[in-house]
Amino acid sequence: MTMVGGGNRRRVLILSSALLLMLILLVEASAGGGEGQGRIYKNISPEGERRKLLANGLADTPPMGWNSWNHFGCNISESMIRETADAIVSTGLAKLGYKYVNIDDCWAEYTRDQQGNFVARKSTFPSGIKALADYVHNKGLKLGIYSDSGSMTCSKTMPGSLGYEEQDAKMFASWGIDYLKYDNCNNEGLKPTIRYPIMTRALMNAGRPIFFSLCEWGDMHPALWGSKIGNSWRTTNDITDTWLSMMYIADMNEYYADYARPGGWNDPDMLEVGNGGMTKDEYIVHFSIWAISKAPLLIGCDVRNVTKETLDILGNTEVIGVNQDKLGVQAKKVRMEGDLEVWAGPLSKYRVVVLMVNRGPATSLMTAHWDDIGLPPNTTVIARDLWLHKALRQRPVGNLSVTVASHACKMFILKSVS
Ligand SMILES: *[C@@H]1O[C@H](CO)[C@@H](O)[C@H](O)[C@H]1NC(C)=O
Ligand SMILES: *[C@@H]1O[C@H](CO)[C@@H](O)[C@H](O)[C@H]1NC(C)=O
Ligand SMILES: *[C@@H]1O[C@H](CO)[C@@H](O)[C@H](O)[C@H]1NC(C)=O
Ligand SMILES: *[C@@H]1O[C@H](CO)[C@@H](O)[C@H](O)[C@H]1NC(C)=O
Repeated sequence: MTMVGGGNRRRVLILSSALLLMLILLVEASAGGGEGQGRIYKNISPEGERRKLLANGLADTPPMGWNSWNHFGCNISESMIRETADAIVSTGLAKLGYKYVNIDDCWAEYTRDQQGNFVARKSTFPSGIKALADYVHNKGLKLGIYSDSGSMTCSKTMPGSLGYEEQDAKMFASWGIDYLKYDNCNNEGLKPTIRYPIMTRALMNAGRPIFFSLCEWGDMHPALWGSKIGNSWRTTNDITDTWLSMMYIADMNEYYADYARPGGWNDPDMLEVGNGGMTKDEYIVHFSIWAISKAPLLIGCDVRNVTKETLDILGNTEVIGVNQDKLGVQAKKVRMEGDLEVWAGPLSKYRVVVLMVNRGPATSLMTAHWDDIGLPPNTTVIARDLWLHKALRQRPVGNLSVTVASHACKMFILKSVS
């Protein structure tokens, strides 16, 4: 266990403030740099666009649902999408808020038709996307689709939407699409701040509210401009199903915490829970960090064949409640002591959520101090453990100390009682 005095604590704070300042300077330097970006800021009239986009009303809380990529890659078909929609309902996940069924790359033919329209791949989506949207809508769910702000998608098995934005947005709307994930491959070297707003406007003119998910990989700090252009923006490269990748992405995404708010969210990529590459405890850390970070909760496993253990993680209503809390504030790391990290953030009704993550190799005692998490020092709280589903018997004052196993976490909501 590590006991830390005030001096050390201050050093940690100074160090993280310095890191943050460096990041902000870096970000401002790069945002101010290109002339292209200056142009985009001028012709997009930030306030007006933002108000209109917000009016789509689709991102008051982070989106919840499922996406095909993490488990299936290109191996998708209309029958497995339909079976997935069935499973999201029959497992009870739909009732908990998971409503988007999102098709990722590889759903279309290699070439457009004579009118320049996308054509659903005949071998795998023979009934077409409209029929699939009808099926999914009949289950009370929503259908998402994928395209790319480039000449081809990342798989290079289908065209991208660059130059076809208006036409594609209208087609998506006519099919009944509810969500667009918009990737960044084969972009011909054009800046994302030029390419993505074209699709924003196309979607706004398409006549159907469509959640717009920017998948720009964090290349040009989309947190700084994404809220004017989309409902969420990827802050990082793709996740893989390992502890190291997951925690690396969690760290990157945390830098941008101040930019998340209702209407537009940081997106550290889709969930790997249930795909088999991490332990149960590690998946609990993964889900807890995504929830506390107000990340989109997009399931990435095969829900047709999901285990009880995976369902218990993805179906934790108290943790989902943190993600969907109306206040919409992304939590931050408030203290790092070596491998021990305390993450915290405010919730509605004057509550605070605290997550203690042990990234180290050994079980450790961890302490969350009230002055680190924004509570007055001698406040008494009720501490509810969101994974054990019960409140601690004693009511902590000033700090909360718990034992946390290696690659595991504890998550609490604190509610002050005096
Ligand atoms: C593709 O998906 C089908 C049906 O879900 C499955 O039977 C098949 O094994 C998969 N193929 C690969 C290469 O993953
Ligand atoms: C279903 O899950 C089990 C256990 O997780 C696994 O062994 C099996 O291969 C899966 N079946 C399919 C069709 O993916
Ligand atoms: C809270 O702490 C302050 C300063 O440490 C002290 O003056 C005050 O009496 C305390 N209040 C309670 C209710 O213990
Ligand atoms: C936590 O608070 C208690 C008093 O409520 C105090 O006795 C203890 O020293 C504190 N622990 C740490 C690690 O600060």
